[in-house]
Amino acid sequence: MARLLTLLLLVWAAMAADRETIIFDTDSGLFGDDGASLVMLMRSPQRVNIAGITVVPGNVWPEQGSEYMFHILDLLKRPQPPLYAGAQTPLIHSAAMAHEYGRRWGALEFAGAFDDDPSVVKPAPGARLTGRKPLHENAVDFIISTIERQPGEVTFLELGPMTNLALALRMRPDIETKIKRLVFMGGNVHVPGNASSMAEFNFWFDPEAAQIVLRSRIPQKVMFGLDICNTAPIKKTQFDRIANTHTPITDLYREDLGNRYPGFFQHPSATAYMWDSLAAAWLLDPGFVTKSEVGYLDVVTSWSKFYGSTVALDRRVAPNATPVNEMLALDFDRVFALYQDLLTRKE
Ligand code: RIB
Ligand code: CA
Repeated sequence: MARLLTLLLLVWAAMAADRETIIFDTDSGLFGDDGASLVMLMRSPQRVNIAGITVVPGNVWPEQGSEYMFHILDLLKRPQPPLYAGAQTPLIHSAAMAHEYGRRWGALEFAGAFDDDPSVVKPAPGARLTGRKPLHENAVDFIISTIERQPGEVTFLELGPMTNLALALRMRPDIETKIKRLVFMGGNVHVPGNASSMAEFNFWFDPEAAQIVLRSRIPQKVMFGLDICNTAPIKKTQFDRIANTHTPITDLYREDLGNRYPGFFQHPSATAYMWDSLAAAWLLDPGFVTKSEVGYLDVVTSWSKFYGSTVALDRRVAPNATPVNEMLALDFDRVFALYQDLLTRKE
């Protein structure tokens, strides 16, 4: 009996040693790519341990984003991981600036939370409010203390604007080199934007935050920008493969992608993108990326038509910045198989 127990403990310790500890920073809407990322990682406990979910403004304001994350955790029947809310607004950008941008430089494709009222929190369709609330500790303090406790061991998975991470780096610059790596969805290097014609949404929503992070010394920065995301479109055929499997999670997927963005039921020729789910999938199977390049990147923060767009870094202004590993091409069948498998599991 004692031997069996020792063996089990050794197996458990070996598994735990292999697992990557991550902080999951999200601006989740109802489900979309942030929700898919959460489900994929929660269903991969042998590979990742989510130390905490930190919510940031972006697609929606943080109270709404927290409610959507709690709804998904409820569907998964998980009381954990702990969830923390952080910044309530971007560092500088505001709804007034976004609307004035549209007037001066042309309509925006998507303005996210800037089009919403921060005081309104809706339940998921057909559900009641979950009644769950973020923990009292602020997300920024949680990020700092988690990295401090396990220097060199925590991966920061950034699926929204970089406001929470930028605030943590400003409060405690010494944590920069203690982060194991940053894996993020954001930016556009060789392709047009999707919020404005110049800028990708996560960078555009909080350009100053993205600039702080890109100019930092975080040892490894792995970027899933629009360049690679545009090569992984989800058409109605792929949507159907997931939506036709009936589970609480796939029902939410069907509701969100079918009736909201991109609205496959009303627009069968629409396209959705895996975006954040590619960054999450990479933590499970990095082999699906077939091409990448390394560069020093920065973000335009002067308020102009180019606000939030990704540019090459002038290294004289941030000589200690580390480079970015920009993911560029992928094996779609391989990553979609992983996505489909994890989203359609019947638990
Ligand atoms: O540009 C895509 C990004 O904007 C994704 O993170 C998506 O969730 C939206 O926030
Ligand atoms: Ca997101």
